[in-house]
Amino acid sequence: MKAVVDQDLCISCGACIDVCPEVFDWNDEEKAHAIVDEVPDGQEEQAKEAAEGCPTDAIKIS
Ligand code: F3S
Repeated sequence: MKAVVDQDLCISCGACIDVCPEVFDWNDEEKAHAIVDEVPDGQEEQAKEAAEGCPTDAIKIS
């Protein structure tokens, strides 16, 4: 499973980082990005929750 943050849509609300810090963190532009190539085992539900909770639907899970 992969998670990608659309940098044009992220408004830096930070919810994804609160919900799933194993996968998301701030980048140098103060937007969220995925810090792993693959969502680690056991983090799938949190990653999906982060995607569903993003107010601008910036996170795509595949
Ligand atoms: Fe950005 Fe959405 Fe996360 S707005 S900080 S990708 S919850």
